[in-house]
Amino acid sequence: MSKVSIIFGTRPEAIKLAPVILALRSDPRFSCQVCVTAQHREMLDQVFDAFGINPDVDLDLMEPDQTLAGLTARAVETVDRFLVRSKPDLLLIQGDTTTTFCSALAGFYNHVPVGHVEAGLRTGNLDSPWPEEANRVLATRLTTLHFAPTELNKQNLLKDRVAPERIFVTGNTVIDALFLARDIIKEHPPAVPGLPEGLAAANGARLVLITGHRRENFGPGFESICKAIAELARRFPEIAFVYPVHLNPNVRKPVNQILRSAGTSNVHLIDPLPYLPFVAMMNRCTVILSDSGGVQEEAPSLGKPVLVMRDTTERPEAVIAGTVKLVGTDEGKIVEETSKLLTDKAVYDEMARAHNPYGDGKATGRIVTACAEFLGVSPPSNK
Ligand code: UD1
Ligand code: UDP
Repeated sequence: MSKVSIIFGTRPEAIKLAPVILALRSDPRFSCQVCVTAQHREMLDQVFDAFGINPDVDLDLMEPDQTLAGLTARAVETVDRFLVRSKPDLLLIQGDTTTTFCSALAGFYNHVPVGHVEAGLRTGNLDSPWPEEANRVLATRLTTLHFAPTELNKQNLLKDRVAPERIFVTGNTVIDALFLARDIIKEHPPAVPGLPEGLAAANGARLVLITGHRRENFGPGFESICKAIAELARRFPEIAFVYPVHLNPNVRKPVNQILRSAGTSNVHLIDPLPYLPFVAMMNRCTVILSDSGGVQEEAPSLGKPVLVMRDTTERPEAVIAGTVKLVGTDEGKIVEETSKLLTDKAVYDEMARAHNPYGDGKATGRIVTACAEFLGVSPPSNK
């Protein structure tokens, strides 16, 4: 039996690794150990409930308003100690967070081969997204197996001189997670905490769903985003603007200051939603405004138009297909593009097309097969 450790720390990593954890834990060829840095705390724990996953080891690293350097130092040291103790045959990491980079580095220091789920995303600009673009590039240098969601991601890795035999185009596991969530929701529609009665119902008012947390938007970017939301709420009093606000204090402060004082009763600022209610809200909404990576990947599968409040994206596939549009953080541009979608049916219909550029829901199986081949464990018996 081969020992695979999976390390992650934030909400999106947990969502995207949940299907891989479930698959490895139910496969007798592997012993799978889940270690969380808990770079996020509450937002990470929400994901465990959704998928029924308990971590084996919890490093409990989050500090309020943590700095990048402080978190990095704590993560490298504690993940290193974990790897010295657990000695896995393979370490799996995901994405582009501080936990991702630090775990890749600790794996390298311990001579543990690392498999990177969601490898090869690039904007080519180290300042955007910041610091994630650097985390991705650095993780690639330290990684042995590269699980690229798309062909374009594979091309990026080849440009970085990664050996072709180490790259596996798998699709993004976020689609596997989304399909799992969709099935659970169909059976058991979740309550949506924090919303007034009736608003979460499919026949409720039209609804714009908003998320935002990117560091490069802190300060003027967030102020501008919030002013745009306030203006939209004034222009469209019959539409609900639902914003589950990220727990980062650099996000909560401007959002609360600007939007709570705007006096717009149709803006609903709520706590981050657990994954199942959030997927239900993506399904239920008309339009999404977001700077999130994961949301850009999920929304096209649900046929929801996304206006991305960033200047760059490492996920151009849906932009090229025309269902996701980059609008930056300019107040006027956000108001104009959102208004167009809310008032012009032809513009809306053109963007609201369901398609799956990021995966077919079967990425997990491809990743598990590649891991098994790398580790030299035999294929599962069909008996
Ligand atoms: C992190 C990742 C980012 C990812 C995002 C997903 C880094 C540098 N950033 O950004 O790539 O897109 O997560 O959401 O890795 N906090 C809580 N409770 C939580 C989570 C956060 O209170 O459950 C607060 C804490 O004060 C914490 C702060 O938010 O110090 C920042 O958390 P951190 O993980 O450093 O950065 P994020 O902005 O969440
Ligand atoms: N998400 C969630 N609850 C929320 C907002 C987002 O469960 O209130 C999910 C969303 O569906 C996606 C992931 O969190 O799968 C994205 O996380 P985030 O935007 O924090 O990080 P990013 O993807 O930008 O790294």
